[in-house]
Amino acid sequence: MTIGVVIAGIAGLFAYAAGWLTPNALTPARIVNTLEEVNGRHPGFRRNHAKGVCVSGYFNSNGRGTELSKASVFQPGRMPVIARFSLSGGQPEAADAPDTVRGLAILFTLPDGEEWRTAMINLPVAPFRTAEGFTDLVLASAPDPATGKPDPARMQGFFARYPESAKAMELIGSQPLSSGFENSRFNSLSAFRFINAAGSVAWVRWSVAPVQPEPVATTRLDGTNKNWLFDALIASIHSQPLAWHLIVTVAQAGDPTDDATIPWPADRRQIDVGTLTIDRVESEDTSPARDINFDPLVLPNGIAASDDPLLSARSAVYSQSFTRREGEPKNPSAVSTAETAR
Ligand code: HEM
Repeated sequence: MTIGVVIAGIAGLFAYAAGWLTPNALTPARIVNTLEEVNGRHPGFRRNHAKGVCVSGYFNSNGRGTELSKASVFQPGRMPVIARFSLSGGQPEAADAPDTVRGLAILFTLPDGEEWRTAMINLPVAPFRTAEGFTDLVLASAPDPATGKPDPARMQGFFARYPESAKAMELIGSQPLSSGFENSRFNSLSAFRFINAAGSVAWVRWSVAPVQPEPVATTRLDGTNKNWLFDALIASIHSQPLAWHLIVTVAQAGDPTDDATIPWPADRRQIDVGTLTIDRVESEDTSPARDINFDPLVLPNGIAASDDPLLSARSAVYSQSFTRREGEPKNPSAVSTAETAR
C-alpha cells in the first residue's frame, strides 16, 4: 500500500467521524445544535435541563444490593453524594411549571474511589425510544411563534411517526403529578446490567422513591415567583433533610431491556438497597455540580450498560453539551445564591 493511499484512508476516517460523508446523519453535534435552535443559545448552561439547583448529602447502603451487584456502592455503609435537581428544557430562566419534566442527577463517590453517575426523571417511561425520537420530539414540541404553544398538527405528525411515543404519552398522562421535587419519584427508565461477585447477571432498572409524602415547605404560586418549585425545595431542605429509597427493579425473561418507552410489569421484584439523604443545597454559581457531566455511562465495576440505544446516545450528546458549556463564560444561575442561602 502506498503512503498516499494510507493518508487518503486516514483522511476518509476523519471525514466519516466528522459526519461529512453522511450530511443527514444525526450526530451528537447536530442534536445539540437542534437544542440550541429551539431554546436559543445560553452560554455556560446545559443545553437541556438548563435550570437547576445543586444539592449534596449521603447514601446509606443497607447491603441488600450485594445479592445482585458487586459494585462497592452496595456494600453496607455510608458514602457522599453530589446531586442536581433540574427542569427539562434548554432555557435557564424558564418559569417553573408543574408539568415540566423534573430531573435528579446523582454522583455517588464509592468507598473504593470509583464513581456512579445517574440522571433520572420523574416520568414512568421515556417518551422516545431513540435519539432520533428525542430530536424529533424537541422539534415537534417547539412553541409555534403565533400561539406560544406547540403546533397540534406537528405533534400529531410526530405521534404518527413514533407510535411507541404515543403509547408512552398515554401512560405518562394517566399518572397523577406530584406537587414538588420533594415528593417526586425519579426513574432511570433505561435498563442496566448488575453483575454480582459470582458473575451472575441481572437486568435491572432503578428509581429513587420519596420518603416525604409532601413538600415540607411550600411557596406561594402567585404568578410573581417564577422559581416556586425550586424555592419550595430549598425551604424544605433548610427545614429538614430529605430522603429517598433507592429501589432496584429486577427484570424477568422477556422484559424489554432496549426500549425505555415500555414499562415492566408491576409485579416485578423490587429491592430497597438503601437511603439517599439530601441535607445541603447550593446555587449552581458556587457548587461543583455545575461542572459535572452526569453521563449515564459513568458506572462502577458491577454495573454495566444494557442494549438500550438511549444510553450511548445520551453519553455522546451530554459530552458535546458539556464541552460547549465548559468553554463558555459562566452566567449567574436563575436560582440565585441569595435564594439558596438560609
Ligand atoms: C437521546 C435522548 C436524550 C438526549 C439527546 C438528552 C440530552 C441532554 C443534554 C444535552 C443534557 C445536558 C448535559 C450537560 O450539559 O451536562 C441533558 C441533561 C439531562 N438529562 Fe437528558 N437527554 C436524553 C434523554 C434523557 C433521559 C431518557 C433521561 C432520564 C431518564 C434524561 C435525564 C436528564 C437529566 C436529569 C439531565 C440533567 C443532568 C444534570 O443535572 O446535569 N435525559 N440531557
